[in-house]
Amino acid sequence: MDIWRIRGGRKLDGVCFVQGSKNASLPILAASLLSGGETQLHNVPQLRDIDAALRILRHLGCTAEQRENEVYISAGGLTRSAIPRRLMLEMRSSVIFMGALLARCGEARLCPPGGCQLGRRPIDLHLGALRQLGAEIDDSGEEIVCTAKALRGAEIRLPFPSVGATENTMLAATAAEGETVIRGAAREPEIAALQDYLRAIGCEVHGAGTDTVVIRGGRGTQSAEHRIIADRIAASTMACAAAACGGSVELRGVDPAHFSTVLYFLKQAGCDIISENRSVWLRSAGKLHAVGEIVTRPYPGFPTDAQPVLMAALLKADGRSLITETIFENRFRQVPELRRLGADIGLAGQSAEIWGVDSLHGTVLNATDLRGGAAMIVAGLTAEGQTVVYDEGHVRRGYEQFDVRLRALGADIYLDN
Ligand code: EPZ
Repeated sequence: MDIWRIRGGRKLDGVCFVQGSKNASLPILAASLLSGGETQLHNVPQLRDIDAALRILRHLGCTAEQRENEVYISAGGLTRSAIPRRLMLEMRSSVIFMGALLARCGEARLCPPGGCQLGRRPIDLHLGALRQLGAEIDDSGEEIVCTAKALRGAEIRLPFPSVGATENTMLAATAAEGETVIRGAAREPEIAALQDYLRAIGCEVHGAGTDTVVIRGGRGTQSAEHRIIADRIAASTMACAAAACGGSVELRGVDPAHFSTVLYFLKQAGCDIISENRSVWLRSAGKLHAVGEIVTRPYPGFPTDAQPVLMAALLKADGRSLITETIFENRFRQVPELRRLGADIGLAGQSAEIWGVDSLHGTVLNATDLRGGAAMIVAGLTAEGQTVVYDEGHVRRGYEQFDVRLRALGADIYLDN
């Protein structure tokens, strides 16, 4: 059990080096299977989900190790195409190994993935797209068996721009004969990052970042070295913490365009923000104003992953803010816990109405999920007295040295485990 102990009320000041992106690293780790060669990755965050992906790679017969933020994979020795249930349940992204294994071995055996409980989270779009590439899929609900004698390129239209389904389809399509066109693709920066890695191993892919991604199959086999992009959600979290606590923070190494919607609302809330090529300066007086309606949307819209932490930043803002969640059914799990700090939040369907209060009071909370847990920590930083967050490891699935980074900015936060 991780126990986060926070004493609120300190301003945040200084430079924060933003960690590498979890959600860019995970599909690239799955993609490292595609080539029989070696992959060296830089700037990979040290996180539980990354460990889980490395354990999957080792189980499959690859060499995979992490030293600080460097990861080395050698996929030449791959011997298996089945992932055991205990490894699948550790995170949602284990499902991305399906497309990679199908491409490399012509088969994949796994079970539905784990991950944060944010609603139903089906994988029908993944399976539908792989079937269109020629995979035969037997899905008993308990076990999913995919086989393909030969994958063939196809035109695939995703009815919703699912990040995971886009990634899985890209990976499988690298081994398909001919061209695959994914229409309605997700446009997240992590998709463009996957395209960059695939090109580095020799695949022909273009269009990532737009809603049409084109993959010409059958080419990628070389070794590659690749640098993981900075984590836009970790950057958003630090920006929200600094906005709520007050102070002046420079977020270094991150592309401001990747979280411009979050910065837009923080500006509306009264922060001064200067964005440069690879860094963002944020200055806040600590007293924020309520903002207009925030609606979560697929990229380039406002990210669902930043919704809980922005909510935490607005708990003491002047006036009423409204957040509508459209991506996941169950992403307000932090709300009952935030109310225990004294927050005034009304829930109606998929919307949360936040009335700013004058003060929050530290208490004991339970982390419900990764971003919800981070929101409780951000709120704790602005509460009077001590907040203790009990956490079964959710926050460390996605935040690298969260306590250390916050302490370096002046926060009073300690992690016991
Ligand atoms: C990715 O999850 C991220 N995870 C999530 O980050 C993020 O919240 C999400 O994208 C949305 O931005 C990783 O990249 C590892 P989706 P993913 O498929 O791929 C529905 C975090 O906190 N859907 O775009 O699972 C689904 O139920 C995490 O770091 C289907 O209906 O997201 C959801 O409502 C959590 N059928 C919506 O689409 C499908 O087959 C978005 O899901 C697939 C998805």
